[in-house]
Amino acid sequence: MLPCSSDVLVCRNAEAAAQETADHFVCAATRSVAERGVFHVAVPGGSSPRAVFQLLASQPYASLVPWDRTTVFFTDERCVPPDHEQSNYRLANELLLSKVPIPSENVHRFAGELPPIEAAAEYEQTLRHIMGERPTFDLILLGMGEDTHTASLFPNTPALDETRKLAVANYVRALDVHRLTLTIPVIKGARRVLVLALGSAKARAVNKALRGEVNERLHPVQSVAPTKGRLLWIVDQEAAADL
Ligand code: 6PG
Repeated sequence: MLPCSSDVLVCRNAEAAAQETADHFVCAATRSVAERGVFHVAVPGGSSPRAVFQLLASQPYASLVPWDRTTVFFTDERCVPPDHEQSNYRLANELLLSKVPIPSENVHRFAGELPPIEAAAEYEQTLRHIMGERPTFDLILLGMGEDTHTASLFPNTPALDETRKLAVANYVRALDVHRLTLTIPVIKGARRVLVLALGSAKARAVNKALRGEVNERLHPVQSVAPTKGRLLWIVDQEAAADL
């Protein structure tokens, strides 16, 4: 069963899914700036958004996004320096942010080089400073792991229980690492959440997330439907194979 305010867009392949995602990004950006003068967006790491970042850095997309009125945050980050090969910031910066005219002060990364709890607290301060006490993102782009984690909200991890903080350090026992992540209340407060899932390896997870037992501790991606906004899944045919 799907949360009532969610849709699933099945695209013929990963390229078409990236195109759809980039189109939604541009649409959300232009509408947000027209209505509120600013576009607040959070982007993930991983492989799924790579083609989306590359599209947004190319024409015509790069000219369609009001970059000077756009602020970019991250849904999560690894506890590594910004130039580390695993850094989500590095990925977005190399493929997109360094290639478009977004003011550097409009890009807000987690300080993965700091101790995790300090990095999360600093990010929370930045969120509150820029977006107020109850941040409302115009768009949160998410990926999903094969275990149905999203952002760095992994199954049965402490971050799933956070109801007050905006960002936390989350110890992921399965990986034996800390990760930095936005919390569920922030994600659910967004105007629009877009989950991008690509490839046959995600088919079982997509089925569990959308058609399986509702268990948000086991399947954290089930907890991202915005309270007032809209949730859209963009998947390719391979990832939709078990639906
Ligand atoms: C990260 C992401 C993470 C990602 C999923 C899916 O830091 O890796 O934010 O939540 O979206 O793990 O990763 P892929 O897109 O590589 O499948």
